[in-house]
Amino acid sequence: MREGAIVEEFNVKGRKGETLHVVFRYPSRKDTKAAMQMVNAARDEAEFLGKWHHETNKTEKKFIETQIENIKKGKGVFLFVEVNGKLAGDATIAPLELDAEKHIGKFGIMLRGRFTGLGIGTRLAKKVLELAKKTTRFKMIESAYAAKNTRSKKLHAKLGFKKFGRLPKAEKLKDGLYCDRICLYKVIKKL
Ligand SMILES: CC(C)(COP(=O)(O)OP(=O)(O)OC[C@H]1O[C@@H](n2cnc3c(N)ncnc32)[C@H](O)[C@@H]1OP(=O)(O)O)[C@@H](O)C(=O)NCCC(=O)NCCS
Repeated sequence: MREGAIVEEFNVKGRKGETLHVVFRYPSRKDTKAAMQMVNAARDEAEFLGKWHHETNKTEKKFIETQIENIKKGKGVFLFVEVNGKLAGDATIAPLELDAEKHIGKFGIMLRGRFTGLGIGTRLAKKVLELAKKTTRFKMIESAYAAKNTRSKKLHAKLGFKKFGRLPKAEKLKDGLYCDRICLYKVIKKL
């Protein structure tokens, strides 16, 4: 992995019919400031993200360094999405904590609101799953979404995730209401 290296690029049509150039690429330490601004804006506008606190330059720097280290050690995947040269989202497959679950990676994904519903999330998720299979120790990917998150539900179904549970009222969303959490997994290598 070379910091900042592009792994996929393509064009899609935006909501107004404009052409958007989309790049999926590895993180670089130089991304800290732009990444912090992107993640904070995405958290402000998203309805269903589990985190909505803001990152600082310091916490974002540490986060990116951890992602780079995880990728290099084969215990994580992290890609940024750029649209027309500007950060617009990311996807991650991160290691879990326990020694007994080193074979499991936890999937996460987010896009800036104006770039959702254009097929970018599906392509990004497929790419990080492909990289997880090729470059990491993970054999199984775990994921979850708030039951009301229709886009995420469709995304997981398309990717072949299997539902294994529903944790009632596991998420208290921004509106203050409880929402069930749907828990899923996908086996990517023989166990
Ligand atoms: C969830 C997310 C990653 C999906 O990526 P995306 O690029 O928006 O999704 P896609 O355009 O690839 O579409 C995925 C599916 O959702 C459907 N979809 C798209 N827009 C939709 C909408 N407004 N309502 C319902 N379904 C919708 C698509 O039709 C597609 O399903 P299908 O192929 O079965 O028809 C993205 O919307 C996002 O980042 N949302 C905000 C943060 C978030 O919720 N993250 C996930 C937390 S688990």
